[in-house]
Amino acid sequence: MSINAFSVPRNIVYGEGSLAKLAELDGTKAMLVTGGSSMKRFGFLDAAAAYLAEAGMETAVIDGVEPNPSVETVRKGAEQMIAFEPDWIIAIGGGSALDAAKVMWCFYEHPELSFEDIISPGSMPALRTRAKFAAIPSTSGTASEITAFSVITDTQNHIKYPIVSGEMVPDLAILDPNLPAKMPAHITANTGMDVMAHAVEAAVSTAATSFTTPYAIEAIKLVAANLPTACSQPENMEARTHMHNASALAGMAFTNASLGLVHSLAHKIGGEFGVTHGLANAILMPYIITFNKQFTDAYQQIEAALGIEDLAQEIRRLNALMNIPSSFSACDEVDFSEEKFLSVLDRMSARALADPCTLTNPGAPAEADVKAIYTAAYYGR
Ligand SMILES: NC(=O)c1ccc[n+]([C@@H]2O[C@H](COP(=O)([O-])OP(=O)(O)OC[C@H]3O[C@@H](n4cnc5c(N)ncnc54)[C@H](O)[C@@H]3O)[C@@H](O)[C@H]2O)c1
Ligand SMILES: [Zn+2]
Repeated sequence: MSINAFSVPRNIVYGEGSLAKLAELDGTKAMLVTGGSSMKRFGFLDAAAAYLAEAGMETAVIDGVEPNPSVETVRKGAEQMIAFEPDWIIAIGGGSALDAAKVMWCFYEHPELSFEDIISPGSMPALRTRAKFAAIPSTSGTASEITAFSVITDTQNHIKYPIVSGEMVPDLAILDPNLPAKMPAHITANTGMDVMAHAVEAAVSTAATSFTTPYAIEAIKLVAANLPTACSQPENMEARTHMHNASALAGMAFTNASLGLVHSLAHKIGGEFGVTHGLANAILMPYIITFNKQFTDAYQQIEAALGIEDLAQEIRRLNALMNIPSSFSACDEVDFSEEKFLSVLDRMSARALADPCTLTNPGAPAEADVKAIYTAAYYGR
């Protein structure tokens, strides 16, 4: 017997202006959760609050969720939720805000739990005893609005933990491309390559099925065709819409088929150096595709769909078009000194191998393989 499941949010609303769907929610109190300032600055936070008022709801706001949200931020937010007692949690922002809101939701419903209690995949108890959850992404990247995942950083120990629980799949995802249309080019590029990494890893995952691969392939085609345009013409709503939908489609694939080594290595190098998630993925992808091709011919379906010979080469081409460096040593986003890289390489490799995403990577990589990939991606070999 083989029992599988395919889970996505009950409702996915999409298209320009779909933020207005908030006016139709049924509830009394909504807690909006958002990041630094972009949602406020561009008026989307006020617009969301106005739609919720139209729905007859009282609202409160948790703002200032930082990129790569920490355990402390999540704990603090949960305290605010416990005080306000919302029956809807509305996360609006990038993946960081959405991820943080998901785990705040868990600690709101189960204040007795510690972070350690939910690290083991699937260990989170049932949610929805106090609130439902809507997610409104402002980046076309993580697909946190679709997925059973949240990535939270233990800042003391420099570790990013992917928290995995079907309970955190939102009740409602709202994909309004007007939000990501405000992203500057470099955020568009980095988050867009995160979509590519999700779709590629889901398509070659050892857990890929006929339920997941079609979404992954469609997402890959949309990203290849639209990401450079979304970067160079920020106001091009056709490209923005395709990228926003591609992100969610990739999410439908990877939340059910999981990911692979690109994400394992990106999580751990992100934890050590603070490099942006999508940027780390973009740099790592060509090296890992080349490595994985020893173990699987699953990349051929992607190459056939794109009409190309070599996916690693295609990723390098897209990266170059968007000024994404080809190695970590050439990346100036954060301090990637050789001294620090060499001093953390061993522990970073061991932790990447142990990341849950490694489980569904084709082949059975060893720690030495992970170290070799990090080294190649650092020096650009
Ligand atoms: N839950 C998942 O399934 C999943 C999957 C992959 C990654 N992640 C995690 O998500 C996080 C990254 O999320 P992200 O890539 O969406 O970036 P982010 O949320 O960290 O945001 C990046 C920056 O973009 C800004 N920003 C966001 N939307 C904007 C807009 N519309 N206009 C202008 N600026 C905007 C933010 O303020 C921030 O400064 C990482 O912690 C990563 O590990 C989660
Ligand atoms: Zn990702």
